[in-house]
Amino acid sequence: MPGAVISGWGICVPDKIVTNEDLSARLDTSDAWITERTGIRQRHIGGTTSELAIVAGRRALEKAGRSPDEIDLLVLATTTPDATVPGTSATVQDALGLQAGAFDLNAACSGFVYALVAGHGMVLAGSKRVLVIGSDTLSRITDWDDRSLAVIVGDGAGAVVLEATDGPGELLAWDLGADGSLRHLLKCDHGGFLYMNGKEIFRHAVRAVVESSVKTLAQVGMDPSDVDVFIPHQANARIISAARERLGIPEERTVVTIDRYGNTSSASVPLAMADALETGLLQPGALVLMSGFGGGMTWASAVLRWGG
Ligand code: ACO
Repeated sequence: MPGAVISGWGICVPDKIVTNEDLSARLDTSDAWITERTGIRQRHIGGTTSELAIVAGRRALEKAGRSPDEIDLLVLATTTPDATVPGTSATVQDALGLQAGAFDLNAACSGFVYALVAGHGMVLAGSKRVLVIGSDTLSRITDWDDRSLAVIVGDGAGAVVLEATDGPGELLAWDLGADGSLRHLLKCDHGGFLYMNGKEIFRHAVRAVVESSVKTLAQVGMDPSDVDVFIPHQANARIISAARERLGIPEERTVVTIDRYGNTSSASVPLAMADALETGLLQPGALVLMSGFGGGMTWASAVLRWGG
């Protein structure tokens, strides 16, 4: 069956690094608490969602060897649009010179995997090439006097080019889920700051990642022991460990970037994917499991056979 392959990828994080020490100097917190409770050591802060998305998108196009006019759709996953209207994808489409449809998608921290699956669906429906970007600037909706949130957020963007192929596609299976009755656990009203019930999100997140991952793998007759590279959403190192242990996926097959980037929401999965490619963990032929969760609550998993 024809499908889609990832032919290029790119990331962008702001230059400014904020360390745990920087935060401890102005908040009642400490490097020890942040490292132990979250696994975060630093985060990149700055820029706008469109600025980061444009750079990541341009890098993905370069890597794919594609010019902007060869893209026929842009799907931008973001929780932190530059404005309510227009969609941030309009700014990105214009700056990249795409002659393509463009829309925003908000599924909080599950956004990139949702966008990847949506983009894949559009390829199956006839699009030749879809640019999928996850970009977020959570720092812009964070109250920097709220220590429970200030220590975990980071800004960044990651992008991939999805191309139609006559051969077997890379995306083998997926699971998209939502439970809107839990929407009060993580929210930001118009003009307000992010609110999060960390403990409850933590509890639901581990269960969602485990159940969704198992369900997605089962669609293609596999189980967690078949996974070569596990790319979870990076919200808390303890959530990643708990999910990984319950799934029985070894630590060395699990990508962890939260120490450097914090929680970058829609950008965390593509940032982690790029890291796995850079370190050589992600090799052609690898079975990849991506799994994200976030406000809504939403969750999303995807299983890919990496083509390289
Ligand atoms: N520094 C020092 N102490 C702190 C800090 C801090 N930054 N934050 C909280 N504390 C204190 C609390 O006041 C509390 O003190 P007390 O025991 O005297 O009352 C103690 O530390 C423990 O607080 P908890 O809230 O129980 O800490 P917890 O271990 O749950 O960690 C955290 C908090 C990191 C937020 C965690 O709950 C978490 O990561 N939750 C999930 C977050 C998540 O996945 N979000 C979803 C994605 S985000 C998105 O979609 C935009």
